[in-house]
Amino acid sequence: MFKKTLSSSGYRDPEVLVGLDLGTSKVTVVVAEREGPSGEAQIIGIGQAPSNGIRKGLIVNIDQTVKSLKHAIEDAENMVGLDLTEATVAFSGGDVQSVKTKGMISLGRAPRTVMQFDIERVIESAQANVSVPSGKMILHTIPVEYSLDGNSGIDDPLGMTAMRLDIELESVIVPVAMVQNVRNCVEKAGLEVSGLVIKPLASALGALTPEESVVGSAVVDIGGGTCGVAVFVEGRPKHLAVVSVGGDHITNDVATVLKIPINKAEEIKKEVDMFSDPRPGAPENLELEHMGRNYSYSMSELTDIVQCRVEELFSVLIKAEIAASGAAMLPGGLIITGGGSKSIGIDHYLTRIMNMPVRMSLPLDSGRMPPSRSGAEYTCAAGIIRYVLEQERDPFRFIGNSFDPSPIMTSTVDQGGWEKGLSTVGKGGHSIIDAIIKLFKELF
Ligand SMILES: Nc1ncnc2c1ncn2[C@@H]1O[C@H](COP(=O)(O)OP(=O)(O)O)[C@@H](O)[C@H]1O
Ligand SMILES: [Mg+2]
Repeated sequence: MFKKTLSSSGYRDPEVLVGLDLGTSKVTVVVAEREGPSGEAQIIGIGQAPSNGIRKGLIVNIDQTVKSLKHAIEDAENMVGLDLTEATVAFSGGDVQSVKTKGMISLGRAPRTVMQFDIERVIESAQANVSVPSGKMILHTIPVEYSLDGNSGIDDPLGMTAMRLDIELESVIVPVAMVQNVRNCVEKAGLEVSGLVIKPLASALGALTPEESVVGSAVVDIGGGTCGVAVFVEGRPKHLAVVSVGGDHITNDVATVLKIPINKAEEIKKEVDMFSDPRPGAPENLELEHMGRNYSYSMSELTDIVQCRVEELFSVLIKAEIAASGAAMLPGGLIITGGGSKSIGIDHYLTRIMNMPVRMSLPLDSGRMPPSRSGAEYTCAAGIIRYVLEQERDPFRFIGNSFDPSPIMTSTVDQGGWEKGLSTVGKGGHSIIDAIIKLFKELF
């Protein structure tokens, strides 16, 4: 197929956006085309390949991961007829910390208008209170809440009048090595990394309606080896976390209890109805043929195995993350997405054990995605495109780190590193850049 090269020598084509979701079950490459200079983007293709070399969200085998990436990239390229050169990459891993700090600046003795420079200063003042452990780095800097003269809940302080500006800032901290491995693999597979996003943030942007995000909701993306958790209040992420348990643990439980191979357990798991009251016409037993013999399992026993793991995951681990967000109430409820959310009846079951409304969500863009690739397992991938657009629309919303150590190490910081995120907000981010330079000097 004819392929048009999008860019050469690092030039970024403004019309095409590429997202890469590094999952534990599959690698997905989503390609979107911008509809206007500042408008929405339309997804034009989604490539994918089974993910090998990634366990619990972490890269454990570089060669296998690179192979998976190459297959997914090739699949996407064939679908859209383009040569892809760069992507914003979503990744996860167990060691993700979401740290909140506060900052404050005085605007003077008399009330005056808040300027962009003031927002940069207040962000810096909150950043000064973040302590980044050695070997870790800040991946996202997210203003969670602004207050003016003690009045909280200010959506955008720019242009408003006050004497004092306060901020609550969230910093997502991850191991440097984890980011470096992701970056190495993507580059080895032939793409430049134009940005990085933690998976739960991309999934939340891919699933949450504006109303849910404002009233307060929790999004859980149930992947293969991990679950991404994001708690949104007043349109902003209050807490982001990755839990190292996912749908594959359910499969393993089924395989262990029934003493059957993983692929058979995976088939069985998808048949189990977690809705507690047996539905009319639902079979009482599940028949299975394995190595020439027929087996019959009681549906209620299978339901117990699946429910047991899901209950532990949600009542213990996910509840703890929701509590850590500090959100008092989440009237928008729990929104589940990702491959694991396709379990039959899981929404009903979770409504009961979490005692809150539960909605299973497809990607918000599902109606505009290829029909065979528009299910809940593609929410994160579609969310990457929304993340890129959000970042462009409001540079203060998610201040990202595209992590480009080489230029930082060789003196000047180029436009591909932190400054790309901050260039639109001026030079106010230099304390962060300095911190990263310091970190690299310590490391190498
Ligand atoms: N119909 C289904 N019912 C139950 N679980 C499912 C179903 N389809 C996929 N899954 C599970 O979803 C998980 C993969 O989800 P996915 O979002 O694709 O993962 P990742 O983002 O980690 O690559 C696997 O554990 C798989 O067994
Ligand atoms: Mg997923």
